[in-house]
Amino acid sequence: MTHAPRLIAHRGLSAQAPENTLAAVRAAHDAGIDWVELDVQLLGDGTPVIWHDHDVRRCSDGRGRLGDLTLAEAKRLDAGGWFGEAFAGEPMASLVQMLELLDELDMGLNLELKVNRGRDPKALVEGVLPVLLEAQPVARLIVSSFDARALDHARRHARPDCLPLGLLLERVPRDWASRCEAIDAYTVHTDWRRLRAARAGEITRAGYPLLCYTANDPLAFASRWQWGVSGVISDDPTRFEAHA
Ligand code: G3P
Ligand code: MG
Repeated sequence: MTHAPRLIAHRGLSAQAPENTLAAVRAAHDAGIDWVELDVQLLGDGTPVIWHDHDVRRCSDGRGRLGDLTLAEAKRLDAGGWFGEAFAGEPMASLVQMLELLDELDMGLNLELKVNRGRDPKALVEGVLPVLLEAQPVARLIVSSFDARALDHARRHARPDCLPLGLLLERVPRDWASRCEAIDAYTVHTDWRRLRAARAGEITRAGYPLLCYTANDPLAFASRWQWGVSGVISDDPTRFEAHA
């Protein structure tokens, strides 16, 4: 069974390398961080790829919607040069490629099912889970999503011992416990700035590891550890090593 991680590199070590790329995962590993959070979506041809945005403009040299591309078109994009010359030519990673690298480096993965505007959560789950669970099993895995339909559909596809699910929240609502129960959640993930001590206490007392995103200032974050938070998702989690 997956154990809850303490330090997780957000989109890979995105402070040091282009987010959601193989290079960002290698950078996390080189920095001694053994868990990454990555976003997954489907290309137009159904291939799961590691990508955050609805379109490719911000993080590549291309334009247009991710969901309109084929794998061959996506592979022609430079997904690293925008970050720095040293990363020019870094390709968009498919989920399969990313899982191979994580396996090679023996790293844990928090995979976020990213349901952007207009995209189908069920299709995403059906495109991702077979790759994740059958083709390339990951030893340490948490699958999270802001999208309740995606989580619900994922749970219908796989048992909790095969697929630890993280309930990903912008803020913790009053009915958080029933939402966890509905999907047999393993972890709760929330925005550290909007978390309150009382809610953190409720969650941790109920036995759910609580992970917070996206924090980059260890001093500002310090009270969260006292509230029982188990892990931090950061663009540079090495900053938290002395504090965690
Ligand atoms: O999974 C936590 C965090 O990644 C959620 O926000 O927009 O960075 O995917 P975002
Ligand atoms: Mg994410």
